[in-house]
Amino acid sequence: MQACIEKASAVVGLQWGDEGKGKLVDLLASEFDAVVRYNGGANAGHSVVVGGERYALHLVPSGILSPGVYAVVGNGVVVDPERLLEEMSTLQNRGVDTSKLVVSDHAHVVMPYHKAEDELRETLLSANAPEPDSQSSGVIAAIGTTKRGIGPAYADKVQRSTAIRIGDLLRPAILREKLEMICALKNAAFGALASDAFVPFDADAIADEMIALGERLRPMIRDTAYLLDDVRKEGGKILFEGANATMLDVDHGTFPYVTSSNSSALGMGPGTGVPPQAIGRIIGVVKAYSTRVGGGPMPTELFDAVGDDIRVRGREFGTTTGRPRRVGWLDLVMLKYAAMISGATELCITLLDVLSGEDELKLAVAYDMPDGRTDRFTADGYALVDAKPVYETMPGFSQDITGARTFDELPGEAKAYIKRIEDFVGVRVGIVSVGPDREQTIIR
Ligand code: GDP
Ligand code: IMO
Ligand code: MG
Repeated sequence: MQACIEKASAVVGLQWGDEGKGKLVDLLASEFDAVVRYNGGANAGHSVVVGGERYALHLVPSGILSPGVYAVVGNGVVVDPERLLEEMSTLQNRGVDTSKLVVSDHAHVVMPYHKAEDELRETLLSANAPEPDSQSSGVIAAIGTTKRGIGPAYADKVQRSTAIRIGDLLRPAILREKLEMICALKNAAFGALASDAFVPFDADAIADEMIALGERLRPMIRDTAYLLDDVRKEGGKILFEGANATMLDVDHGTFPYVTSSNSSALGMGPGTGVPPQAIGRIIGVVKAYSTRVGGGPMPTELFDAVGDDIRVRGREFGTTTGRPRRVGWLDLVMLKYAAMISGATELCITLLDVLSGEDELKLAVAYDMPDGRTDRFTADGYALVDAKPVYETMPGFSQDITGARTFDELPGEAKAYIKRIEDFVGVRVGIVSVGPDREQTIIR
């Protein structure tokens, strides 16, 4: 019997993504033996800055910059093999050791037709935008996906018969047979929906390409559930790296304006094979204000000069798609719900430095909904459109805080802002980030 196995830790975003998860994972990684991604795919863009050098990671776990630590792409991730290999070689060319990078044989593959379908669906939905005088509600709109094929790949996973897993890339005969059937189905569907310019998918050509990519991945392909169990049994520590974020969770986010996986902390078990009782510390990462990329409601969104200021100061342009991010005040109603769903045991407040220069800081503490005032969040993308935030205003601060390394070095107004967050959410803020670099961090 194993008496006392170390509990795993997790880093998970509590908003709509881009909270600074990559920075935090990189900062913590050297204390762990394995960093594991459990969900999402190349829709994620995790930036890590070490000594002024910036790395943008999409499929490779952010622990890769810590030598000797397993960087595990778990079974819950949807993997675009070409992008993964590209990312690896970019890292290698910059001198990063990728020898501890492993990929689950059970992870599903993002195929060329998934990316085409993602694009096609978004185009069709955008074309559905209502005419000014139409009766349409206007809510049946494009999701604003990253067009990385994420939704269609997860849909095929759930369909089962049309799914391809990483392990299948190493079984050429089965892969070819499957692709014949899959391409016949996809070509029929695309033929009906796509424009005349649609070139049918060629099963043989796709199979050749995927078999070649599979050979290049072969040395990294593992049963990662056993690998993680071995790490634990040998007394090692695991760090989970959430991608996307709690409000983008397919079950608990602002559906349908979400991604296609359980991107809250709830996805950790199914996405890795590590059982729930193995997980101890869950750090909920919270940007000091709100951002969102793509469509869907955002109750505290700012459309004025304050929002523009924050966007510029925070460099709020997507790591994956380069799109400008929508910006808003911090939404405590949403945050308390997200902390509940992800079971955050601790919060990490990031990008606090970006708020420096604002005269006042607003925090949403309730919503006015059509049926009255509430402090409960509505995880329904159609109903949330009606939420009117009720704000509490706090004094801002103007000092440059990027050099602060202890909580006491922060201006009183910044400390009060953080204390208000922890009081409202009921979870302690243990880490504060005041700049993109590893060093620009306050551990309380
Ligand atoms: P992730 O997807 O959660 O990993 O976040 P992203 O990397 O997509 O976006 C966060 C952005 O903020 C990146 O450009 C980071 O380098 C940057 N960043 C992270 N923490 C801080 C911080 O405390 N202050 C500032 N100014 N930038 C930060
Ligand atoms: P990281 O890990 C921000 C958003 C997209 C879109 C919706 C669905 O960097 O925080 P998808 O391509 O997943 O089908 O798009 O989800 N989205 C993200 N937004 N950060 C992310 O990841 C995101 N991953 C998905 O913009 O609105
Ligand atoms: Mg990001």
